[in-house]
Amino acid sequence: MPPVRGVRGPIGTVRYRNPALLAAAVAIIAPLLAACGELTQSTQQPVADNARQIQDLFMPILWISAIIFVLVQGALIYSVIRYRRRSESDPIPVQVHGDTRLEALWTVAPAVIVVVVAVMTFRTMAVQAEAPPPDALKVVVEGHQWWWKVVYPDLGIETANEIYVPIDRAIDVSVESDDVIHSFWFPQIAGKIDAIPGRTNRTLFTVEKIGRYQGQCAEFCGFAHAQMKMLLFAVTEADFESWTAAMKSTPAPQGLAQQGAEIFNTFISPTTGRGCFICHTVDGTSAQGTLGPSLTALGSRSTLGAALIDNTTENLTAWIRNPADIKPGVLMPVVGLDDDQIAAVVAYLQSLR
Ligand code: CUA
Repeated sequence: MPPVRGVRGPIGTVRYRNPALLAAAVAIIAPLLAACGELTQSTQQPVADNARQIQDLFMPILWISAIIFVLVQGALIYSVIRYRRRSESDPIPVQVHGDTRLEALWTVAPAVIVVVVAVMTFRTMAVQAEAPPPDALKVVVEGHQWWWKVVYPDLGIETANEIYVPIDRAIDVSVESDDVIHSFWFPQIAGKIDAIPGRTNRTLFTVEKIGRYQGQCAEFCGFAHAQMKMLLFAVTEADFESWTAAMKSTPAPQGLAQQGAEIFNTFISPTTGRGCFICHTVDGTSAQGTLGPSLTALGSRSTLGAALIDNTTENLTAWIRNPADIKPGVLMPVVGLDDDQIAAVVAYLQSLR
């Protein structure tokens, strides 16, 4: 037998005999650990009342189920072992059926459990169905293949994929869709709400903790469904005020950004017939396209492509050059700008902040 080597880890020493097996284990576990970054999509770490109410319902039901599982499996395993046929010559046991007490017990007990779970569930549903308070912030979120339009109707603000909300204030979200069925889901904040064409669904939550949270479309909606992500920034009321002010100001582009603004607002590629302004809006400019996400204040967003990649010069350049390289299936086409034009448009978009 080869010598046993060990690896000291957070839960003690892991012993292994086979380096290949260890390598395989590392290959499987490492990506899982790498996924445990700052952003989590775990319902087990709620940061808002809505998600906490669901968690507070889920845990007791989980425990009830766990106890039933252990009792039933325990009785089963015990019986299989205790009453197994020990030898070929064992006679067939006496055949019985019907025991009124037992029948009553296993009819009444599940009924009681179901009633208890139902009452707990209805109570949570009633709490979540309450009308929003008068000072709630209204946000309309509309699913598109494959990004999220975000409108603050009372503030006259439209953005995309990144939602800003103040903490400790009720957020009254209307969830809609422009094309197919999507599902609006921030696991740490609230339960899933379907985005259905021609219908408005509602969800209400109050975020309690400042932070940056990740959401994800939770209904298969076509090719790039898995890459239909979004972010929610929960900030102080003061930070929210400055964000809304920034969203409403239109900075005057200078230098290269000025050239980029002209390309963005007027250029149509002679080879493809496409241009930025045909699909995108930048508030306060002549670009008022509605097919793609609003790019108002794009320079202040932290991500691109529906929270897919960081908003850096390199990524924005690569995105404009060929979005499908980064997000296969994306509906944004190659516009047909040359490298100098792309550099100017990037400078312009980054100046919007
Ligand atoms: Cu939108 Cu899945």
